[in-house]
Amino acid sequence: MSDKKRLEELHVLLTEHSYYYHVLDDPQISDGEYDRLFQELLEIEMHHPQWVTSDSPSQRVGAAVLDKFEQVPHRLPMLSLENGFDEEDLRSFEARLLRFLLTDVPPAGYMTEPKLDGLAVELVYEDGLFVQGSTRGDGHIGEDISTQLRTIPSIPLRLRQGSSSRLEVRGEVFMGRRGLEKLNQRRAEKGESLFANPRNAAAGSLRQLDSKITASRPLRFFVYGVADPADTSCKTQQELLEFLASLGFPVNDAVRFCPNIDSVIERFAELSSLRHTLSYEIDGMVVKVNDFSLQKRLGAKARAPRWAIACKFPAIQESTQILSVEFQVGRTGAVTPVANLEPVDVGGVMVSRATLHNGDEILRKDLHIGDTVLIQRAGDVIPEIVKVVPGKRKPDAIPIALPENCPACSHPLSKPEGEAVTRCFNLHCPAQRVRALIHFCSRAGLDIDGLGKKSVEQLFDAQLIRDLPDIFTLQKEDLEQLDGWGGKSAENALSGIRAVRNPTLARFLTALGIRYIGEVTAELLERTFANLERLCAVSREELLEVEGLGEQAADSILAYFSDPSVQQMLKKFHDAGVRPVVAELQKKSQPLAGEVFLFTGALKKLSRTEAKKLVKDHGGQIASGITRKLTSLVVGEKPGSKLAKAREQGKRILTEDEFIAMLP
Ligand code: IVH
Repeated sequence: MSDKKRLEELHVLLTEHSYYYHVLDDPQISDGEYDRLFQELLEIEMHHPQWVTSDSPSQRVGAAVLDKFEQVPHRLPMLSLENGFDEEDLRSFEARLLRFLLTDVPPAGYMTEPKLDGLAVELVYEDGLFVQGSTRGDGHIGEDISTQLRTIPSIPLRLRQGSSSRLEVRGEVFMGRRGLEKLNQRRAEKGESLFANPRNAAAGSLRQLDSKITASRPLRFFVYGVADPADTSCKTQQELLEFLASLGFPVNDAVRFCPNIDSVIERFAELSSLRHTLSYEIDGMVVKVNDFSLQKRLGAKARAPRWAIACKFPAIQESTQILSVEFQVGRTGAVTPVANLEPVDVGGVMVSRATLHNGDEILRKDLHIGDTVLIQRAGDVIPEIVKVVPGKRKPDAIPIALPENCPACSHPLSKPEGEAVTRCFNLHCPAQRVRALIHFCSRAGLDIDGLGKKSVEQLFDAQLIRDLPDIFTLQKEDLEQLDGWGGKSAENALSGIRAVRNPTLARFLTALGIRYIGEVTAELLERTFANLERLCAVSREELLEVEGLGEQAADSILAYFSDPSVQQMLKKFHDAGVRPVVAELQKKSQPLAGEVFLFTGALKKLSRTEAKKLVKDHGGQIASGITRKLTSLVVGEKPGSKLAKAREQGKRILTEDEFIAMLP
């Protein structure tokens, strides 16, 4: 195949897979496979720079650093929304509509949409191609952030269907909770200031003259409208959202059509109780008259349309007082200051503690004991202090300072060059040990039934367990005699422990709590090295060859397994009968494990989607083309060029029936 053709093929493949991953949230290939295709694209583009188009997936990595943002006028102003807070405000919103329309017949329905806490942007498409993106600015003139927006994977660079020659869509760029948490964690480690909320994080990430920085931030996007619905043939907001989804835009799946104001009110209550379960923060619900012809009649006032209202949830920021500060020593020795607060209700939850992150953060916020502070809770994120409320400090307030010695073992603390985190490097520090034990037994570790945080602390204090393998030699008599325990709870814990004697290698590695080795990396290690013995003897080169494993992780593994005390611990595990196994053994129920399929031509008994689902349900993978990893090509009617190519490469060719016969 010519380079040019392959490039076009890669465009389609990468765009398609990125859409599956980022918009539909339903990845079809592994990250590694995607990266390989991406590298292939970069290589061809490097040899033929004249072929690079503005909608190439390679254009998402950021571009030259700008010296300023250009101004962009919006063809139609980007309005804001009027606010409401409760049922009463929603009812008077409808009453106002009716008065304006001189009728007592309520509108035929409303669309309700979560109000995301991010930044409003406008995206302009010409003949289906993304040409410009801008911030809202003052509503009339915004800033050109096209290169920054291009880096957001869920923003289509080309629409999936033809549409009118020019389309101006509007939506919200935001950062999910996990994304923000991870970003802040990285920033805390580097001693950089933290983003107080997802909105600041999104704005701060988009307003980067260096779009490579934007590209490194986990930004997401949801579309919620267009500048002028008359540019489309849609008659309602509901239709419009469906239309935008068909063009390839991500639409929030929590949007709902509500036939009347009562059901709007119901949805508001529902959304406010499930908001904490969403992977991103929302600060309210937007209600829009569904029918565009009614919207048009209603029109807008100076700053906001009459046909919509934003109903806000109760605040999740409150002010309270810092009573005292404690210093906690984590599993890796990191010392984290935690403030004890005068308990306060924040959006329905009592908060009495907040993390202060690290010493630099305390200095930056200039925190004193006794200060009145603004605190905020971001869903499942630990509450944190936003800032000191000025003017309320007492003259004798004492600034908070980090201790010089470990609060648990008195070992002198140190702060490695370039890190913001102060650590205790005493390997025998009891606080670190107990944390490691808690993690080992917790859900993030081996998930041992009957051994929660409190029990582990109790066993540690009673000196029944000092290191991880000790857990596996606990005796019933040891446990029974403890305060609050009895025969039954001892039995429970022991059977919980017995049940995890053969964890998968990946789970075992995650449970050990090796720095930089999370679930994903651990699985990568299991797949590549299959057993502990090999991992203990692995070289740096071998590790770096593993696709998806970085240098930090590689060095951490080497340091860990070459530590004599770790070797001793592993021996102890072995002696106690702990044998990690490879998930392979669990594969018996997954007959297609290790197989990589591709379908070509028309299938008769199965739809493509069902066929792919069957592969995945039985442990197999789907290839993106005739790739190195492909094991079998399943051929339907009128197969096309793939068949010849697969034959040429000696791949297994199956009919649809042969494929079905492989399933149990
Ligand atoms: S509609 C004229 N829909 O809320 C209609 N806005 O206070 C204007 N927002 O600047 C916007 N989610 O950034 C709309 N589903 C949604 C929204 C939404 C969040 C933001 C948007 C806007 C602000 C208005």
